[in-house]
Amino acid sequence: MEVIIRPDADAAAGLVARIIAKELRANPHLVLGLATGRTMESVYRVLVRMHRKGGLDFSLCSTFNLDEYVGLALSDPHSYRHYMNEHLFQHVNVELRNTHLPNGQAPDLDAECRSYEAAIAKFGGIDLQLLGIGRAGHIGFNEPLSAFKSRTRVKALAPLTLEQNAEFFGGADKVPRRAITMGVGTILESRRCLLFATGAEKAGIIAKAVEGPITSMISATALQLHAHCTVVVDEAAASCLEGSEYYRRIFATEPEWEEFRNLD
Ligand code: GLP
Repeated sequence: MEVIIRPDADAAAGLVARIIAKELRANPHLVLGLATGRTMESVYRVLVRMHRKGGLDFSLCSTFNLDEYVGLALSDPHSYRHYMNEHLFQHVNVELRNTHLPNGQAPDLDAECRSYEAAIAKFGGIDLQLLGIGRAGHIGFNEPLSAFKSRTRVKALAPLTLEQNAEFFGGADKVPRRAITMGVGTILESRRCLLFATGAEKAGIIAKAVEGPITSMISATALQLHAHCTVVVDEAAASCLEGSEYYRRIFATEPEWEEFRNLD
């Protein structure tokens, strides 16, 4: 795992977008795993700008989102399909038929989960998986006790997750109780993971995810087992990390980060 600390949320989002852009330029057929949530909005804003002003080309790439609420229509403004259309897909030249999210309205949800896994396999697996982190430490909707070998499945949302998403739905009682999510095992099979978090409210959970003991109570700790996981945080989200001096030195001196250093 490598941890990159940027001075503020914009600089951190800019770095995440540049890492994605670099991978996409190196492999135009990139299979990109995408995430939702407030934090990601700033990354998608930068990617849209890079497409408009820098010609970043999404025409050959395919995408797989981590998760979707059960029971919401694709057109529902709270659905993650709607979120992705609004924040990214309709502003770049990705082929909509190459964008995938689980269908939370499928009549047979277990079959939907199996076919989502099959689709990821058919596209050759995920090259780069973008991840946010919930306040309880979930990645996707892998709530506490999610098995590290879990695959795409239906998951009941934890109380803290319902609370965290309440403002979007006008109250915790209106948040769907279940979601389809890629499993921790599915995520760990991606060739590279890129976890992005900003703000002081994420500082405690980021320290646990990165430096704490591996536990299925905090699914993000599974990323410590991944061979190529980059964590990008701003100063606020980094404030509880014990090893930050070491992480800063790596970013400041290691050659692989040179091209990303002077961008703020
Ligand atoms: C939801 C998503 C997660 C995301 C999390 C964080 O729970 N299912 O994938 O990481 O929100 O959201 P935010 O960026 O709004 O804190």
